[in-house]
Amino acid sequence: MASFIVEGNNLLRGTIEVSGSKNAALSALAAGILFKTFPEYFRVPDIEDIRRMRELIDVFLEHKTINTEIAKRFRASILLAGPILARLGAVSFPHPGGCLIGARPIDVFLEGWRMMGAYISEDKDGYHLEISKQTSLRGIDYTFRVKSVTGTESLMMTAVLAHGITTLHNSACEPEIKSLADFLNANGAVVCGAGTPDIVVKGNGGALLDFHKPFVSPPDRIETGSLAILGSLAADELRITQCNPAELEAPLQALNNAGASIEVGDNWIIVKKSDCFFPVDIETREYPGFPTDLQAPFMVFLTQAGGTSIVRENIFEGRMTHVPSLNAMGARISLKGNHRAVIEGKTPLVGCAMESPDIRAGLAFIIAASIANGTSRIGNAYQIDRGYVALDKRLSEIGMHIFRAD
Ligand code: EPZ
Repeated sequence: MASFIVEGNNLLRGTIEVSGSKNAALSALAAGILFKTFPEYFRVPDIEDIRRMRELIDVFLEHKTINTEIAKRFRASILLAGPILARLGAVSFPHPGGCLIGARPIDVFLEGWRMMGAYISEDKDGYHLEISKQTSLRGIDYTFRVKSVTGTESLMMTAVLAHGITTLHNSACEPEIKSLADFLNANGAVVCGAGTPDIVVKGNGGALLDFHKPFVSPPDRIETGSLAILGSLAADELRITQCNPAELEAPLQALNNAGASIEVGDNWIIVKKSDCFFPVDIETREYPGFPTDLQAPFMVFLTQAGGTSIVRENIFEGRMTHVPSLNAMGARISLKGNHRAVIEGKTPLVGCAMESPDIRAGLAFIIAASIANGTSRIGNAYQIDRGYVALDKRLSEIGMHIFRAD
């Protein structure tokens, strides 16, 4: 299994361009199933999860099925179920796989599809959904029990081919949902309100979309935030380009409150390291709150703040698995149940051997290793490759001593 080796305490400097958004591209690729001819895509990041999604789509276009072995490798594979149900009137998919960050149920997806007319059965292999011949896929008025990003994307995509109007209340408001709706609308769909809690879709009764305008992935906001955290800790000066700071108000505010040196333009951010930071408390929330995907990287940052900081993870119940490894590096983080961590800073970190439990914790470990004394080995590099393009090459170009080892 590949690992990343990082030699710590090297000053970073230079310019790094942010890749296309993994999560925006994943839902837009799944939406391709709704088209007569598969659409074109640009600025899609060449990462493992995208390669898996393209493999699943190729198998579907050929065999009209979802390859279970591939689908189990990442949670986002569930994004194919709604479009396939809408297109074919039936779909089978495995229990979704993905990160170890929590149970990640799919009750809101199933409840919405059931209301739209799907008969749902479940067995050890997964789920089978079928629209009965007597009825058809119909528009619904639905309120999400909990804000779900892929749940909102899935029901929105399914509704595009349904008969009648669908209204979705308490929808997630992440930018990826608006970029998906803009792509669908540019190709003949009628989706209003994406990016707000109330979305209205005028279904077209089953007519597949004609391709007019390609999908161009927006910059990855989570990669942008992670690079801003890295630069605040380790860069003489780091210029982050091709990004959209407007989507990062909460994390940039948290960095500012901690005393980080940050300059923000319309599509760039310049960060410079400081040697002392104020402690800050953060709570992860649905967009536009502090994103859960930046919680682990920001916790690394807080180990370097002088004082006591509190991190509360409100989105997932299993997203503190990075704490033991950070403590092994010399951090002083105490867990209070599954949702709260108290960080006592400032603590020097020492290089360690660690395993990436998920995409975002993996990058957090690389950030920690870059400011640690000595060398670190971060195993399970596949988890990091799932979410970031050529990370070792790009970070080496700004001065990090990082290389891949098998
Ligand atoms: C999306 O996951 C992202 N993935 C995640 O990023 C991100 O962490 C998450 O949204 C929250 O922002 C993609 O977009 C591919 P949710 P998703 O459904 O949609 C509960 C990364 O590293 N819930 O918004 O799976 C759920 O358990 C990944 O890029 C239900 O209870 O997350 C969680 O507590 C990690 N029932 C909360 O909602 C459901 O039916 C939010 O989950 C669905 C969700």
